[in-house]
Amino acid sequence: MATGKEIVVSGIRSTGFLHLGNYFGAIRNYIRMQEDYNCYFFVADWHSLTTHPDPKDLRGNVFRLLAENIASGLDPEKVALYAQSDVPEIAELYLLLNMLAYKGELEKVPTFKDKVRLQPQNVNAGLLTYPVLMSADILVHRAIKVPVGKDQEQHLEMARNFAQRFNTRYGEELFPEPIAFNFGDNLVRIPSLDGTGKMSKSENEMATLYLNDTDELIRKKVMKAKTDSGPAEPGAPMPETISNLFLLMQSVSAPDAVDNFRLAYENQSIRYGDMKKQLAEDMVAFIAPIREKAQALQQDVPYLRRILKDGAEKARASAAQTLQAARALIGINYYQ
Ligand code: ADP
Ligand code: TRP
Repeated sequence: MATGKEIVVSGIRSTGFLHLGNYFGAIRNYIRMQEDYNCYFFVADWHSLTTHPDPKDLRGNVFRLLAENIASGLDPEKVALYAQSDVPEIAELYLLLNMLAYKGELEKVPTFKDKVRLQPQNVNAGLLTYPVLMSADILVHRAIKVPVGKDQEQHLEMARNFAQRFNTRYGEELFPEPIAFNFGDNLVRIPSLDGTGKMSKSENEMATLYLNDTDELIRKKVMKAKTDSGPAEPGAPMPETISNLFLLMQSVSAPDAVDNFRLAYENQSIRYGDMKKQLAEDMVAFIAPIREKAQALQQDVPYLRRILKDGAEKARASAAQTLQAARALIGINYYQ
C-alpha cells in the first residue's frame, strides 16, 4: 500500500461482543478514515490471550469481530483488515521494544494496576508488557494516527516514549510518534447504562449495548437505565446519569429529538420514561441493520478467511520493511 497518505493503525481485542463504545470510540472513526488514509485495522487476538480464552471460543470471536467490523461499514478492499497473529513481524518488534521498556514504568500503567486488582491470581508477563505489544502493533507500520477511545490515551503516550527511545538510541528517526485520534476534538467515552463506568465487552452485560443484541434486549436495557429521582434544582449541574442518556441520544437520535428533550429538561417538564422510549427505538433502528448484516457475514467463513489472508499480506508487506530497517539499525543484519 505505497501511497502518500498518512498511516493509521488500530486494533480491537477479540474478547467478546462488540458494543456501542467500540463503535463510537473506534469503528466510526475507522470508517471515516478509510477513504483518506492508509489504514491497518486488526483483530488483537494475541492481546486477548492475557486472560487465557477457551481455544474453542477464540476462533468464533475473531470471525465475529471481523464480520461486525465489515457490517459496520469497513471496506476490506480499502483497508488492510487482518489478525494480529498473522503478522509475526509484530512479535519480533515486541521483543526488540521490550529491551527498551522498564519494569517500573510498566507497573505504573493504570490499566495494569486495574487488572492486578481485578485478577490478582493472573498477573502474567503478557499483562505487564501489554503496552509494549500495543506499541509494536502501531510502530510496525510507522503509523501517525491511532483511532481509539479515551481509555487508550495512556497507552499511546507509552508508544510515543518507546518510539522516541528507539530513535534516540539508534540514531535515526525510524519511528514517528503516534497520536490517539478522533474526528472532533475529544476522544469518546460511551458510559455504561447504570452510570458506574464505561460500556465494556466483559463487565456488566446489562449495562452495555452490544451490536449483537436483539431488539427486545436493547429496549429492556435502555428502559432499565438509571435516571435520578426527580427534577434537579434550577441551575444545578445535570446529574451524570442524565448527561449519559443525553450523550447516548446524541449518538443515535435525530438532533431535533435531542433538542426537544434538552428543552424539556431545562424547563423541568422532562419525563425520563418518554426519553428512554425514544432512545430505545432509535437505538434499535441503529443496531438492528448492523446485527443482521454481521450475522449473515458470519455464515460465509470462506469469504472471511479470504479477507484475513489478503489483509495479512498487505500488513506483512509494510511490517517487513520496518523490521528490516530496525534490525539494520540495531546491528542484527548479518547478511547485508
Ligand atoms: P473493551 O474495553 O470493551 O474490552 P477493547 O479494549 O477491545 O474493548 O477496545 C477496543 C476499542 O474500543 C478501543 O479503541 C477502545 O478505546 C474503544 N472503547 C472501548 N470501550 C469504549 C467506550 N465505552 N467508549 C469509547 N470507546 C471505547
Ligand atoms: N489496547 C487496545 C484496547 O484494549 C487494543 C489494541 C491493541 C490497540 N493494539 C492496538 C488499539 C493498537 C490501537 C492500536 O482497546
